[in-house]
This record gives sequence, structure tokens and C-alpha cells, in this order.
Amino acid sequence: MSNDHFVRFENVDKSYDGKQLVVKGLDLDIAEGEFVTMLGPSGSGKTTCLMMLAGFETPTNGQIYLDNKVISDIPPHKRGIGMVFQNYALFPHMTVYENLAFPLRVRKIPKDEADKKVDKALSMVSLQGFEARMPMQLSGGQQQRVAVARAIVLEPKVLLFDEPLSNLDAKLRRQVREDIRSIQQKLAVTTIYVTHDQEEALAISDKVIVMNDAIIAQEGTPKQLYSFPNTKFVANFIGDSNIIKVDIDDQNSDTYLINFSIYSDFLTLIIFKPYETFSRTDICGKSA
Ligand SMILES: Nc1ncnc2c1ncn2[C@@H]1O[C@H](COP(=O)(O)OP(=O)(O)OP(=O)(O)O)[C@@H](O)[C@H]1O
Ligand SMILES: [Mg+2]
Repeated sequence: MSNDHFVRFENVDKSYDGKQLVVKGLDLDIAEGEFVTMLGPSGSGKTTCLMMLAGFETPTNGQIYLDNKVISDIPPHKRGIGMVFQNYALFPHMTVYENLAFPLRVRKIPKDEADKKVDKALSMVSLQGFEARMPMQLSGGQQQRVAVARAIVLEPKVLLFDEPLSNLDAKLRRQVREDIRSIQQKLAVTTIYVTHDQEEALAISDKVIVMNDAIIAQEGTPKQLYSFPNTKFVANFIGDSNIIKVDIDDQNSDTYLINFSIYSDFLTLIIFKPYETFSRTDICGKSA
């Protein structure tokens, strides 16, 4: 049976300087096997969340659970987490094979077994036959696929990606993001993927968490976020929206009497997606 709380952040705060909270009261549940994207502007706390889950940063308050266990006392290398960063972080002086075999050797996995794991991981990223190449003899997209293979070779419980495609050109970004999604589905591994690219987030995720200013602005499926943004910030951040200021003069059950007058106090925002017309009566977003 799948676990809906496979990764859990419970009221997590993080401050680096003891004054400003860069993550504030974060409550988050990620189901086993889910592909969740954290999307948000620069400085909104995305990388900090990954670092706390991976064990490279400690929460200032609150608790993080992995597979129902509190992980605060577990060192990073024992958490069962694989990471892929923006800059590949391959060892430049090692071949592709050695890059993948190294973490297995450190864990004293016998060579026969390690070779099988390396072979399996390389086949997942369609790079069998590249074992003897040095990283500098690979394209950017291939290097990033080696980084993905290295992250999965230890069969992690959770995979973390932090802006993994930033160094690739637009066409390659689309291709590698599809590769990442398909590997994730084949392995059914719980995945958290950080990006500030909304199109990327909507294209590959089961669930998107929009971060803004240290808190979750909204979370939901790509469709929910696109069609029903809760706030002006989310509406502006995800897709295109037409936003009109109005007053609600009256409301009964699901009908609203709306005042578009320029003399109104403009307390409410109506958010229309570009494909919608004025005949639509839903009020998607409301804020003061
Ligand atoms: N090691 C650190 N020491 C002090 N402050 C830090 C440290 N790491 C991050 N911060 C600060 O914490 C805030 C959140 O940073 P974080 O890296 O989590 O943001 P982000 O959402 O990943 O941004 P980006 O999209 O630019 O990568 C920022 O204001 C940043 O300056
Ligand atoms: Mg970051």
C-alpha cells in the first residue's frame, strides 16, 4: 500500500542568521512514488527545503519525516536520498563507469554486484556503451544523464533535483525533462524537483508546490493551479491571466453581483484565464 506521507515536513522553520526565516511554518506531505515540483521565484526557499531533507542543513524548528521516521539524527549518506544539481557535479577525472561505481565502492559493495548496478543505471538513462568516456567527452545533456544515473545507482528512497536543466539549451531541456519523468515513473521513486520554470513544472509533475517568500503560496495538480489560482501572485506566476479589479455588491449561493464601476472600492480580483470569456461566472481568485 502506498504511503501518502512518505516525506513529511511538519511546521518547519529555517533561519540562517537567527533573525530572518527563509522557510516559515512549512507543512508538506509527499506521497510515495509522487513527482512533486517546488516552483517559486529566486530566494523563496526551495533549495533550503531540499538541503534540509538531504541533511545538509538543519531545520531551526519543526520536524522532517521520511518513511514515517524522524530523520534529524540520520546523517546525509544514510538517508537514502539521491541528488542531481544544476552543474552535473561529475568527477572530471573519472570515467562514466568510475563516476557511478565510486559511491558503490565507498559503501563496500562487491565489484560484481556494483557492475550490475552501474549497468542497470546506465541503461535507465540510455547511456550503455559510454562507460569508458570521460565527462568532458560528453555533451551537456549526456553529462546530466550520467548525473541522474549516479543519483539512482544507490536505489534511493527519494530523488531530489535542483534546477537540473538550467545549463541546457531550450530543446535539450524539454528532452531531458521527459527523460527524467520517464525514469521516475519506471522506478516509481518519490521525487522532488526544484525549478523556477513554470512550464517545466506543469509539464512533468503530479503535484506542484508554489513557494513565495518562505511559505507555500498554493499547492495542487498542474491543472488546479493553472485553472484556479488562489492569489494574484499564483495567477501571475503560472500561465497567463487577465486580472480585473471589481467589487462584489451581492452574493447568494453561487451567484455574485459584480460591480465593475470605476467608482467602486475594488476589493476583489477576478482572474480570467486567456481562454475564458466574461460569460464565465466562477470567481477564481479573491484577494484584498
Ligand atoms: N547558506 C546560507 N547562508 C545564509 N543565507 C542563505 C544560505 N542559503 C540560502 N540563504 C538565503 O536563504 C534564502 C532562500 O534561499 P534558497 O537558496 O533556499 O532560495 P531558492 O528558492 O532556492 O532560490 P533560487 O531560485 O535563486 O535558487 C535566500 O534569501 C538566501 O539568500
Ligand atoms: Mg535554489
